[in-house]
Amino acid sequence: MNITVLLALIAVLVALRFMKAHLLLWAGAWWVGIYVLLRFGFRVPIPASVISIYMGIVTLAILAYLSSSDERREEVFGPLVRFMTERRHTPFLAVTVLAIPALAAANVYVQMNVAIEPPFFPRTIHPASPTEITVQDQRISIDSGDNPYRALEQSNPDEFRKHVENGRRVYYQNCFFCHGDNLGGNGMYAHALNPIPTNFADGTTLPSFRETFFFWRVSKGGPGMPEEGAPWDTAMPAWEKMLKEEEMWDVILFLYDFMGQRPRAREEVHQ
Ligand code: HEC
Repeated sequence: MNITVLLALIAVLVALRFMKAHLLLWAGAWWVGIYVLLRFGFRVPIPASVISIYMGIVTLAILAYLSSSDERREEVFGPLVRFMTERRHTPFLAVTVLAIPALAAANVYVQMNVAIEPPFFPRTIHPASPTEITVQDQRISIDSGDNPYRALEQSNPDEFRKHVENGRRVYYQNCFFCHGDNLGGNGMYAHALNPIPTNFADGTTLPSFRETFFFWRVSKGGPGMPEEGAPWDTAMPAWEKMLKEEEMWDVILFLYDFMGQRPRAREEVHQ
């Protein structure tokens, strides 16, 4: 129970009693008061359909009370009949007659005017990859494969740097519009996209995956998302159509190099 609402209603009814209010005002006050009590008086909200049923019963009860004796009938309906028949009330009566359909129309308008919201689709941000993909006629194993240029980091650091630099060029020619200058997923196009471009600077995305996973996502893009990645409305392009295989491996080397992070180690693949 909401005690404040209850006390306010009691106060209003007591005040009306002291003012010796007209019976019609009384009936109106009871009707509105019960509505307010049902609508706001309880902490657990009452369904609107239940409230309308109660209000129907309350309306009948009040009408039964008002018509239960000749005096009351005269006190309530007398003014109403006079209002509708006496000449001096004509302008006000006309306004009332117009106001009733106008209020009904306004009510319908307000009810119809609910903001339209798109339905909510849950989607997996990093869906599970297939075990193997074919990119530009090459079969690449996601589970047991590796970035073919990663080994150069140890064996030939100069050659490795060349690949990273090539990856930098690829990134700033193709990716930063969406993924951002500093890989933060906030490129100039990002604001128009839903889902938003991946933020590689968040500290966790890059180390959580292997390079072959990202190779899959870069080469196949949004169109290559599996079912759990649906709806397939991501703007990530399928870069296999625009970049060479080497460029896609290089840009992935660049992502890790820029963030100073390492890919997740390969798990033993049992066959
Ligand atoms: C037109 C905007 C756009 C461009 C350009 C773009 N991307 Fe994306 N990219 C996205 C969006 C949006 C996502 C997130 C939705 C998704 O996973 O498909 C994404 C996701 C990715 C993912 C998946 C990350 C994950 O954790 O699953 C990788 C990797 C990626 N982008 C790399 C790149 C690279 C590399 C380039 C440049 C060669 C590039 N992107 C260019 C929009 C873009």
